Amino acid sequence: MNAPTRINSALNVRDQFPALGNWHYLDSAATAQKPQAVIEAITDAYSRDYATVHRGVYERSATMTDAYERSRAAASKLIGGKPNELIFTRGATEAINLVARTLPKEGRNRVLLSTLEHHSNIVPWQLAGYEVDAVPLTPDGQIDLDAAEAMLSEKHCVVAFAHVSNVLGSILDARRAAAIAHSKGALLLLDGCQAVPRLPVDVAALGADFYAFSAHKLYGPTGIGCLWGRAELLAAMPPWQGGGAMIDTVSFDRTTVLDPPARFEAGTPHIVGAVGLHAAVNWVENLGLDAIHAHECALVAQTRDALRAIPGVTVYGPDDSAGIVSFNVDGVHPHDTATILDDAAVAVRAGHHCAQPLMRWLGVEATARASFAAHSDGADIEALVKGIEQVKRVFA
Ligand SMILES: Cc1ncc(COP(=O)(O)O)c(C=O)c1O
Repeated sequence: MNAPTRINSALNVRDQFPALGNWHYLDSAATAQKPQAVIEAITDAYSRDYATVHRGVYERSATMTDAYERSRAAASKLIGGKPNELIFTRGATEAINLVARTLPKEGRNRVLLSTLEHHSNIVPWQLAGYEVDAVPLTPDGQIDLDAAEAMLSEKHCVVAFAHVSNVLGSILDARRAAAIAHSKGALLLLDGCQAVPRLPVDVAALGADFYAFSAHKLYGPTGIGCLWGRAELLAAMPPWQGGGAMIDTVSFDRTTVLDPPARFEAGTPHIVGAVGLHAAVNWVENLGLDAIHAHECALVAQTRDALRAIPGVTVYGPDDSAGIVSFNVDGVHPHDTATILDDAAVAVRAGHHCAQPLMRWLGVEATARASFAAHSDGADIEALVKGIEQVKRVFA
């Protein structure tokens, strides 16, 4: 057997991921593997530097507080925001719930979503009592912004779209989405979970009002994510969880709360998570998000061509999708596809990907999904294609 070719390995960072070995990990859209630099930052934080933040008067606590706040500054800078505009949350899901629960509706009770949203950008709005409208998709699986423009009304408080679809990889024209939202006085929330690890993001240039993402998809730890919001919007939002760290004064008669971001960070935060996130931000910045994006686009183009060349394989989504390709093998349930691929050391996700309305739009119950990262390369694609040929042989 020929040695696997590592074509498209321009970034050459695979060796920095100790958990990869010879495994073809194509599930980075679910969660990214961690580079050694992030693992070491987390290990050092627990084994050498650990202390609480914001409350301790001793030196190590002050140092840890500094590290926590430097992470906030780095995460906000990564997306073109200011530190006081970035709230640490448990993840993107909590970030969207925070906005849905606390944004003053100002008499507008509707939210405009799209058909391709992750459940994390649907259910929080429903639970917060919003009436939901869903924009259809173009035939190749992009959010139809002409339709969005026609559907938006003065009753909509928020337009909330995925910046990059977690199933199809479709990239939103976020600037146009912002212009449409603002034309009717609505705010634009971007779910940036899949965009931040894959594209350069600048919230100011995009015209976003809120931006949500998770550290664990950005090569960082689980349990921490970010909500960026325009300062004046955050200032007008009440706290949604109470406890330590978010108060100014407390008495049984009256409690006063701090300004954002502290207002929204009740309780002891994920201190080491913030340290790990900072290391992840440094890691992607060193590599360059332009370079990561170009690398993943090349892999996606190659994957789409290879899959389309296999008879009986359906590939979904637009050609210029960012790092994510969904597909199905005719007559084979994606769970079976993923199980056979697993035997060939290829890890893909199979299921509805927390996007059931999108599955209905595609007319399927589920898809298989290959998603790439900075460490992915041509050998991963070769293994995927060989695995799919095996799927076809098994089900012939
Ligand atoms: C587009 C998108 N939005 C939201 C989420 C939710 O992220 P988390 O589970 O990290 O909160 C995901 C995770 O898969 C996602 O892909």
